[in-house]
This record gives sequence, structure tokens and C-alpha cells, in this order.
Amino acid sequence: MYIKQQERVSLEWLNVRAEKMENKFSRQRRNFLKKHLFLGTFVAAEWLLPSQSYSNCNLTPRESAGPFYPLNYPSDQDNDLTYLKDKSKKANGEIIYINGIVQDDNCQPISKAIIEIWQACATGRYNHPEDRNPAELDPNFQYWGKAVTNVHGEYRFKTIKPGSYPASWFWTRPPHIHFTVRSSKHSELTTQMYFSGEPLNNKDRLLQNFSKKEREKCIVSFYKKKQQSGQFNLTLKRQ
Ligand SMILES: [Fe+2]
Repeated sequence: MYIKQQERVSLEWLNVRAEKMENKFSRQRRNFLKKHLFLGTFVAAEWLLPSQSYSNCNLTPRESAGPFYPLNYPSDQDNDLTYLKDKSKKANGEIIYINGIVQDDNCQPISKAIIEIWQACATGRYNHPEDRNPAELDPNFQYWGKAVTNVHGEYRFKTIKPGSYPASWFWTRPPHIHFTVRSSKHSELTTQMYFSGEPLNNKDRLLQNFSKKEREKCIVSFYKKKQQSGQFNLTLKRQ
């Protein structure tokens, strides 16, 4: 089971709400968005449903998987990385929620896309034998997780904000999360998600290889309402 009961309820509730809004407000919403987006009015991302707030269907820039893709998957393989089912304690660090949609380059949502994420724990350490970082591992953190998009292309992860870590003596990687997305009719995408406002972003050799527009697609702003949430949309190429 990829999604715990509580998360499934949340997603189902989100879907029901989305369908109701689609039926009731679709025309008003289109008019509103047409008017306000055309005029350049800023609309807070968290106010809108994911599919409403994303008008850019350019492909998400690719990055390599890096050296720390897990050799073994954890026994717990869902979309909540903040605890392991067989452990009583929760992972250390700041809990964050990542929401978004997976879509194609024609702005069509992709359902049943499989999303994997893997990342360092709060200390900046990966659960991988090649990671030479002396920082402590977190025995309660899941390190890798998986989600499947719903009919609207939406997905969700609950995890912790990863720490930065040394890639070499002169290069510290900013906090980031690795993503791979697979869908049967689309090219596989591997990329990384970054956190807005991190000073290390400006010095990161991988992130700075991107154009400004590409960087904007991979750097996510997190807002705190009830929870610290950010939206990361992923655009895949149709095959
Ligand atoms: Fe990494």
C-alpha cells in the first residue's frame, strides 16, 4: 500500500472537493483565471488547487540520479517518510508536505504516474554505503518513498527537510530531494527539487547549470499554514 489510510482519506477528500469545484465553479474559475492571470495579478499558490495554479507546461529540467539512489528499498514504501512502520519514534527534522501534479507538455494531467523520491535525512546523510559524510544516520527516517498520481495527476509526500551535505571540500550541496517519475506513455524523468531562500542554491554547481527559467521550475517555495507545504509540479514528455 503506497498511501497510508490517513493520506488516502486526505487525497480522496481533495478529489471530492476538486470535483465539486469543477462542477460548480468551472466557468467562473476559467473567467477568473483568464482575467487575473492575463493581467498579471499574483495569486497565492496555496489558494488554488494544483491544476489551477500551473500554466507553464515546459518540460521539467533533468538531472542525474546522483550516487545515492538506494541499493535496498525500505520495508516501509509509502509516501510518508517521517516514520517507519516498525519503529515507535518519528524522524528528526522539520516536517514538510510536497504536493503537485504530474502533467505532459500539452498540460494534460497524467494519472497513475509512479513517483519515487529519495533524499538525505535532517543531518545531510544518505542511507547509502557510498556516502562518506560522517553525519549521523536517522534510524527512524524512511529515506525513500513512492506515490502514485490520482486521476487529476496529483500526488503528495510527507517528509522532512533534508540537510545540506558536502559533495567535495569546496562544494556543499543545498538541501534537495531527488525525484524520478515514470509513466507508460511518457519519457522517464529524473530531477531534483530545491528549497527557495537557501543561500547554497546560488553556489550549487548543478542548479547553476540551469537557465533562470529552468531553476525556477525546480526551486519550490514552502508556506506555513497549518503545515509547511510546497508545490512541485512535474512535466513529462509524451512518447
Ligand atoms: Fe543528493
